[in-house]
Amino acid sequence: MKPLGPSTRVLDLACGKGAIGIALAQAFGCQVTGVDACDIFVEAAAERSAAPGLKELCTWILADIRGWSPPAGQRFDVAMMVGLDSVSDAAPVLRRAIARGGFYVMDDAVRMLRHGLAPRYAEVPTARDILAFIEGLGDEVVGHRVLDARQARRIHQLTLERLTRASRLIARERPGLKEELTQFVKRHKEASRLLEGPLRPSWWIVRKH
Ligand SMILES: C[S@@+](CC[C@H](N)C(=O)[O-])C[C@H]1O[C@@H](n2cnc3c(N)ncnc32)[C@H](O)[C@@H]1O
Repeated sequence: MKPLGPSTRVLDLACGKGAIGIALAQAFGCQVTGVDACDIFVEAAAERSAAPGLKELCTWILADIRGWSPPAGQRFDVAMMVGLDSVSDAAPVLRRAIARGGFYVMDDAVRMLRHGLAPRYAEVPTARDILAFIEGLGDEVVGHRVLDARQARRIHQLTLERLTRASRLIARERPGLKEELTQFVKRHKEASRLLEGPLRPSWWIVRKH
């Protein structure tokens, strides 16, 4: 596998505030293109990567990824989508953006096998289902990780603390949003609980053949 470096072109679809792309540019000097539909996030990504030396490595595009495709002839070495679509939706989009031999990175919730009979989550793929899906595309999973319940709990705790702090700050400035923010945090808490039990967060790194 070719190591990440200054010649690596990375595409981050639904990049948010650019956290992952910026980390890759800082750590490896990769050339990063991030696309997101939220103008505030794209502006934040640009601000966070404004330092000389970093700015030249980062391109941020405000666009809906549903209608966006790389300019003709532009191919990436690595494409990722984290925190948006399921593997089955993300993989076809990501693999179109990269050349053969390139890599794509995705996350998804997976159903744990011992909960396999729970009809409520029957539509959620197991890790095996995802492996089979990627094999069916003719590609190769070179790395994947399914969090155990403790790891998931630790990450969710940190995220919930940050979300709760942020929503309190926003509610102080915009009291009209308080109820909506409370409901948002509650939904997040419920989803987190689900992702520490019958479902788990998972990440996938795939080589395109
Ligand atoms: C959970 S965040 C993940 C952000 C980033 N990938 C990360 O892991 O830090 C989901 C992101 O998807 C973006 N998004 C949602 N629908 C989109 C669309 N149709 N086109 C582009 N971005 C979209 C949101 O604006 C948000 O930044």
